Amino acid sequence: MEDKAKNGQSVKYYRLSEIEERNSFKSTWIIINHKVFDVTKFLEEHPGGEEVLREQAGGDATESFEDVGHSSDAREMAATFVVGELHPDDRPKMVKPSESLANPVVETSSWTNWLIPALAAAFVTLLYRLYTSEEE
Ligand code: HEM
Repeated sequence: MEDKAKNGQSVKYYRLSEIEERNSFKSTWIIINHKVFDVTKFLEEHPGGEEVLREQAGGDATESFEDVGHSSDAREMAATFVVGELHPDDRPKMVKPSESLANPVVETSSWTNWLIPALAAAFVTLLYRLYTSEEE
């Protein structure tokens, strides 16, 4: 935890481990776009329900928050719950592994995509050759 001046205001940085520790029955902290939100008092008021917020507690809720397509009102509301920012050293840890796995998965499926038509074409060519050679 440390304070740093940014645009004249001091920003409180939290380590990932500290944020995870806040995840208890008493309090709920979530991370959206590297900002840390204390949504403990908001849980019951959240129109999307308290459960979805609890599920993200102590971790990165950026993807879920963006997927919902929250209104600008919701974003302004969220700004009132900011308690600080994720420590810059911990930001790389927030990268979801599924994102880096996305490309190999696409490559595997494109490989099978051309293999089946190629085998079918080879089979048809073979049949054609057999058929024409029998006629001669
Ligand atoms: C500080 C954080 C958050 C605030 C202030 C907030 C606020 C709101 C508000 C005001 C709405 C009403 C619709 C709108 O205005 O867009 C809403 C809807 C919703 N929120 Fe959040 N939200 C937060 C975080 C999250 C997170 C992390 C999730 C998902 C894990 C989530 C899931 C939803 C869902 C599913 C709805 C839709 C409810 C419906 O239309 O039936 N929200 N939220």
